[in-house]
This record gives sequence, structure tokens and C-alpha cells, in this order.
Amino acid sequence: MSTLSYVRNFFSDKYIASITPTSDFGVRKVCGKIDFSRCGLIVEYGPGTGVFTNYLLGKMGLDSLLITIERNANFVEVLRRKIGDPRLIVVNGCASNIHDILEEFGKTSADYVISGIPFSFLPDHLKDRILRNSFSALRPGGKFLAYQTFYQSNNHLKFHLERIFPSVLVEYEMLNLPPLRIYEARK
Ligand SMILES: C[S@@+](CC[C@H](N)C(=O)[O-])C[C@H]1O[C@@H](n2cnc3c(N)ncnc32)[C@H](O)[C@@H]1O
Repeated sequence: MSTLSYVRNFFSDKYIASITPTSDFGVRKVCGKIDFSRCGLIVEYGPGTGVFTNYLLGKMGLDSLLITIERNANFVEVLRRKIGDPRLIVVNGCASNIHDILEEFGKTSADYVISGIPFSFLPDHLKDRILRNSFSALRPGGKFLAYQTFYQSNNHLKFHLERIFPSVLVEYEMLNLPPLRIYEARK
């Protein structure tokens, strides 16, 4: 997946919010919070050109499933064209519709939801809907993992997550440029 394709879309879509894809440092730090031996279904919000998607597929078991939900149609086309893995379902839509999307594919709950959505760019009602629907779509003990660059957020997401999830941890990856805030919320 080329960084060029990512940057080109950045200039025409404000919801992409970050000028380059997440670095390997960021991807590894976020995915280090996943127990791949206990993971049948991961839902990824905002895969962009697929830096997390590729990494996750490399780590997931052969009988597991990854559903990505991406609102930008150009990224959806890139992902569908470039990643031919039967464990991957690429949906063009909004993360707030996670319940309908799980139902469409015969699933009731996810083990992990990973989110690259720039929450500070969203209106409060949509942010709240996405977080509440993510909580209810997770199995008990499942995790919502979100990453935001420093310039996309001022840690406001912690406040919103703590209203919904019983446990929320925040970590940083300073080697990503710009540095990342990483949120680990457990159901
Ligand atoms: C900061 S980019 C992250 C891209 C990629 N995951 C990465 O780490 O490089 C944010 C992505 O979220 C997508 N996005 C924004 N709002 C969304 C929503 N409500 N539902 C699904 N995807 C969304 C954007 O189109 C974009 O691809």
C-alpha cells in the first residue's frame, strides 16, 4: 500500500486526519495488546491503506476473521484490490453501524475492536454512538483499542471512554511521528 495513495486522499477527505499512515512502531505497540491465541473476530475501524490490516492478518489464526469498516471509498477499493485474504471482509461504511455489519456476516460479538478514527473531528453524538455501539458489540473481557496522534487529540477520548468502559489505560508511542496516544479500554 503506497504512502502516496494515502497522502493523496488526505488532501480531499478531512476524516482521514493524519497525513501519513501509522508507523511500524505504532502498529506493534497497539497490536501488542492483543492475545492472538484467543481471538476469533477482530473489527478494525478506519483501516486506511491497511498498515494494521496487514499486520493483524499476519498474526491471526487461520480460522479467525477480520472485518474492516472504512468510510473512504478510495481506501476500500485499495484494500479490496491489494489484500486477497479469505479471512478479511472490507466494508465501506461508518463504524457506528457495527451491529448491522456483524449481523450481516452472522456474528454476534467481537473479541477486539481497533480504531484509527480521529474522534476529535467527529460531532459528540457520533463519537458517543460509535463508542457505545463498540462496547455493546464486544464480548465480556473484549478490548477496544484506539490510537490518536497528539495533534488529533488532547486526551479527550479518555473522558468519553471512562463514561462507558469500566477500565481504561492510556499509553504513548513516541517513536511514531507524530507521537501516538494509545487507549486500551476493556469491557
Ligand atoms: C488517521 S486515519 C488511520 C488510517 C490507518 N488505520 C493508519 O493507521 O494509518 C483514519 C481513518 O479512519 C477513517 N474514518 C474516519 N471516520 C470513520 C468512520 N466514522 N467510520 C469508518 N472509518 C472512518 C478515515 O477514512 C481514515 O481512513
